[in-house]
Amino acid sequence: MAREVSVIAIDGPVAAGKTAVGRELARTLGFSHLDTGIMYRAITWLALKNGVPVEDETSLGELARANPLGLVGDDGDQVLAAGHTLGPELRDPSVDRNVSMVSKAPPVRRELVAQQRQIAGRGKIVMIGRDIGTLVLPDADLKVYLTASAENRAQRRWQEMQERGQAVELMTVLSETLARDRTDSSREDSPLRPAQDAWELNTDGLDIEQVVQKIIDQVSSL
Ligand code: DC
Repeated sequence: MAREVSVIAIDGPVAAGKTAVGRELARTLGFSHLDTGIMYRAITWLALKNGVPVEDETSLGELARANPLGLVGDDGDQVLAAGHTLGPELRDPSVDRNVSMVSKAPPVRRELVAQQRQIAGRGKIVMIGRDIGTLVLPDADLKVYLTASAENRAQRRWQEMQERGQAVELMTVLSETLARDRTDSSREDSPLRPAQDAWELNTDGLDIEQVVQKIIDQVSSL
């Protein structure tokens, strides 16, 4: 690569393939990776467990500040929260339903963004989320914005849910995907949108390896 690339941001809407692509990209480059969605999911799980109403932004912020998250495992899909190692629980339908509400709360975002910046400070990282290029790491060496059609994204999520044994109609997943897009891109605090200097890539019709290769080519061209 022409110039030293140490921090890569990957943003985009739900189920655009960010997590799988980010993990594979990190593996190829020998970087670590962090899917920041699991941090919002962990706070959502804690809120539901502790009976904190997901509309109560102040209490959600206190909950996030009182429980700094730890990352466990090499795969980047587990979080240590208040002494609980959370993995599959982070994908529970109850977490899915409530995570957009929790991630809307500015006090939660402030706290998690601070934790994310601290982690990125170690360098050689692929960080995945919604606001990484726009807010968390505005100086990232490369900002990738992954998109795909709503139909393809719903199909991908539906497939993942089938594999987890969650029986659900494809049409339901499609309408939930569209609803989450709306909440994520219309919230006041750091809405989902590409950074001005982001490199946009539509993943329709591409498999993970092809997407990763395109990003590697982009890294090499910097
Ligand atoms: O990527 P995901 O589905 O695991 O994300 C879960 C939720 O968290 C989703 O509603 C968007 C939100 N999120 C966010 O607001 N900012 C991030 N950096 C990552 C996720």
